[in-house]
Amino acid sequence: MKKTNIAIIGCGNISVQYAQTLKPYSFMNIKGVYDIDRSRAEEFANAHGTYVYDSIDDIVKDPDIDIAVNLTIPRVHGEINRRLIEGGKNVYTEKPIAMTYEEAKDIVGLAAEKGLKLCSSPITFLGDTQMEAARLLNENITGKLRLVAAQMHNGMFEKWHPNPSSLYDVGVLYDVGIYPVTFVTYLLGPAIKVRAFGKVLMPERTDLQGRAFRIQKPDHLYAEIELASGILFTLSASFLVDYMKRPASVEFVGDNGVLYLGSSLFFRSPLRFAEQFKPYEDVADTSGAYDGIEWCRGLVDMARALESGTSPKANPYHALHVIEILEAIEKSLNEGIEVSITSTF
Ligand SMILES: NC(=O)c1ccc[n+]([C@@H]2O[C@H](COP(=O)([O-])OP(=O)(O)OC[C@H]3O[C@@H](n4cnc5c(N)ncnc54)[C@H](O)[C@@H]3O)[C@@H](O)[C@H]2O)c1
Repeated sequence: MKKTNIAIIGCGNISVQYAQTLKPYSFMNIKGVYDIDRSRAEEFANAHGTYVYDSIDDIVKDPDIDIAVNLTIPRVHGEINRRLIEGGKNVYTEKPIAMTYEEAKDIVGLAAEKGLKLCSSPITFLGDTQMEAARLLNENITGKLRLVAAQMHNGMFEKWHPNPSSLYDVGVLYDVGIYPVTFVTYLLGPAIKVRAFGKVLMPERTDLQGRAFRIQKPDHLYAEIELASGILFTLSASFLVDYMKRPASVEFVGDNGVLYLGSSLFFRSPLRFAEQFKPYEDVADTSGAYDGIEWCRGLVDMARALESGTSPKANPYHALHVIEILEAIEKSLNEGIEVSITSTF
C-alpha cells in the first residue's frame, strides 16, 4: 500500500489515541499537525517526530496531504471541515461533521460536488465484536427483531479528562449518545421519529484543576427512536452514571430471543444470546478481538478506500442522518414533542 500523508488538526486528548493506534500502519504518515494552541501542536510534534503547520491554510496548500484529520472541539468542526473541503482536501473528522443538520448537509453536499471523500467518526461499527454481532443478526439469530435497547453511560468524565468543558458544552447526546445512535442505525437502517426526556441532574461540576463549572445541557437522558423498519430503538445516555456501573451495552430483542452485546464501544466485548426465560450463553470467541477501541480504524479504512477507488465504510450520508436524529432528540427534549426525521441514507 502506498504511503498516505495525513495532517492532524487539534492536538488534544484524542490525538494521542489516534497517534498510538496508527503506529502499526506503516503506510499512514502523520506529515504534520496544527493546533490553535501552538504549544499543544509542538508537544505532539516532538512526541511523534512530525512537523507543525502555522495555519489550516498551510495544510490546505500542502499538495502532499491526502487526508486532513479534524480532531478539534465539536463547536469548530463545521467551520474547519468546510475550509478543508473548499481547499480541496479529503477530510476525516471526529464527530459530529457540524453542530447542526443544515450546516452538516451543506458540507456533505460540498464534498460530493467537489468529488472529495468526507468520513466522520464514530466508526465503532467496525469493531471486531460489533461486526460479529452484525453477522449474527444477518444470520437472523434473534428471529424478527422488535426492540433494541442501548445505553451509553459515560460518567463524570471531568474526573479524568483534562479539558471537559467543550464536551459538556455539546452535551451527553452529541458527545457519547452519538455512538449507539450511529451503531444501531448502521446495522438496522434509518430512523423516522423520536421522543425524548432528559434533565440536568448535576449542574455544578469541578474539573481536575479544582475549577467549578456549570453545565446547561441534560447530563442524563432517554430517547425512544422509531426505525423505518418498525423496530423500536430505546436509548439512554448519561454523564452521571459511568460505564463500570451500567455498561455501554446493546440488547437486540427478537422473536427467538435476545442478542446481548456488552459494549457498542469496546472492540472486545461480551456477545451472548438467550431464548426467552433462558440464561445468556456466549455465542462468539472474542479473545482475538482488538482490546479497546482502535480509534484510527475508520481513518485507515478511508486511506485504503482512496487507494483502491472504493467507498470508505463511514458513509457521510449516514453521519448526516445521525446528526438529524440528534437534533430531533434535542428538539423533543426542549419542547416535549414527538419529532419526525426527514433524511435517510
Ligand atoms: N477524549 C476522548 O476520549 C474522545 C473520544 C472520542 C472522540 N473524541 C472527540 O475528539 C474531538 C476532540 O476531543 P478531545 O477530547 O481531544 O478534546 P481536547 O479539548 O482535549 O482537544 C481539542 C484540541 O483542539 C484544539 N482546537 C480547538 N479549536 C481549534 C481550532 N479552531 N483550530 C485548531 N485547533 C483547535 C484545542 O486547542 C485542543 O488542543 C471531539 O470531537 C471529541 O468528541 C474525544
